[in-house]
Amino acid sequence: MTGVPRILLNNGVEIPQLGFGVYQVPPEGTAEAVRTAFEVGYRHIDTAQMYGNEAGVGQAVAESGLDRDEVFITSKLNNGNHARDRALASIEESLAALRTDHVDLFLIHWPLPDVGDYVETWHVLEEIYRAGKARAIGVSNFQPHHLRRLLAASEVVPAVNQVEVHPYLVNQEVREFDAEYGIVTEAWSPIAQGKVLDDPVIVAIARRLGRTPAQVTLRWAIQRGDVVFPKSVTRARVEENFRLFDFELTADDVAAISALDRHERTGPDPDTFNYVPS
Ligand SMILES: NC(=O)c1ccc[n+]([C@@H]2O[C@H](COP(=O)([O-])OP(=O)(O)OC[C@H]3O[C@@H](n4cnc5c(N)ncnc54)[C@H](OP(=O)(O)O)[C@@H]3O)[C@@H](O)[C@H]2O)c1
Repeated sequence: MTGVPRILLNNGVEIPQLGFGVYQVPPEGTAEAVRTAFEVGYRHIDTAQMYGNEAGVGQAVAESGLDRDEVFITSKLNNGNHARDRALASIEESLAALRTDHVDLFLIHWPLPDVGDYVETWHVLEEIYRAGKARAIGVSNFQPHHLRRLLAASEVVPAVNQVEVHPYLVNQEVREFDAEYGIVTEAWSPIAQGKVLDDPVIVAIARRLGRTPAQVTLRWAIQRGDVVFPKSVTRARVEENFRLFDFELTADDVAAISALDRHERTGPDPDTFNYVPS
C-alpha cells in the first residue's frame, strides 16, 4: 500500500490522487524514471502520445513485476490524431507501446478550437471507451465553454479535465465548472515547473511546517481535491514529492497560497493553441 488516497471518477473507476508525470522525460530515460517512481511507491503514470515516451512507460510496467491492475496509466490523444481514423489507429499504437490491452484513462490532449471539431473527436473516444480500450475517458485543457458544447452533444461525461493549475494559476472557474458536472480536475505543472518554489508565502509555510516548498505546493493541490502528478528525473525529488500524506496545511495556509493567483500560465492558452504537428 502506498498511502495515496484514491478518488472515485464519475464511472466508478478509482484513480490514485498522486501520480508521476513524464512530460519532457527523454524517451531513452523514461523506463528508468518510471522504475524509480515505482520503487518509491507511485502507482499512477501520466504520459501522452505527444511525449514520445509511452514505450518507456510500457517497458517499466512490464519489468516491474506489478500486476497490470496495480498501475493506473493515463495517455492522451496527440493533436494530429483528432480525425476518427487517426484516433482509432493511434490508440492501438499507444496500447502496443504501453504493452497493454487498455489504458486506465485516455484524454483529448488539447481542444484545438480552430482545427476540426473536438466534439466529433470526443465521440471517437466514446467508441474507444465502449470497446474497453480505456477504462475511463476525459479531456485536457478544456475551458468551460468547450465542455458546455461537448456535454450538450455527447452521452459520456468526461471523467476528468486535466488543466494547468498551480499557485500562480489557480484556475478556479474551470475547477468549479468541473466540480459542478462531476468531472475531476487534474492539475498539470502543479509546481509550475519550479517557478513557485521561491515564493515567500510558500517558503514561510514550508519553514514553519519543516517541509519543502514543493511539498507544501503539492499538498495545497491535494487538499483542494485535485489529482497531481509532479515530474522529476531526480530520485531525491521523486521521493520528496511522494511524502505528502503525513502533514496538513491549515485552512489559512490553503487560502494564503490560493491568494497568490496571478492568472499566469506556464503553458499555452487553450483558447488560442491550435498547433498540429506536420
Ligand atoms: N495535459 C497537458 O497539456 C500537460 C501539460 C504539461 C504537463 N502535463 C503533465 O503534468 C506533469 C507535471 O507537469 P510538468 O512536468 O510540466 O511540471 P512540474 O511537475 O510542475 O515541474 C517539473 C519540474 O520541476 C522540477 N522539480 C520536480 N520536483 C521538484 C522538487 N521537489 N523540488 C525542486 N524542483 C522540482 C523538475 O526537475 P527535474 O526533473 O530536473 O528533477 C522539473 O524541472 C507532466 O509531466 C505531464 O504528465 C500535462
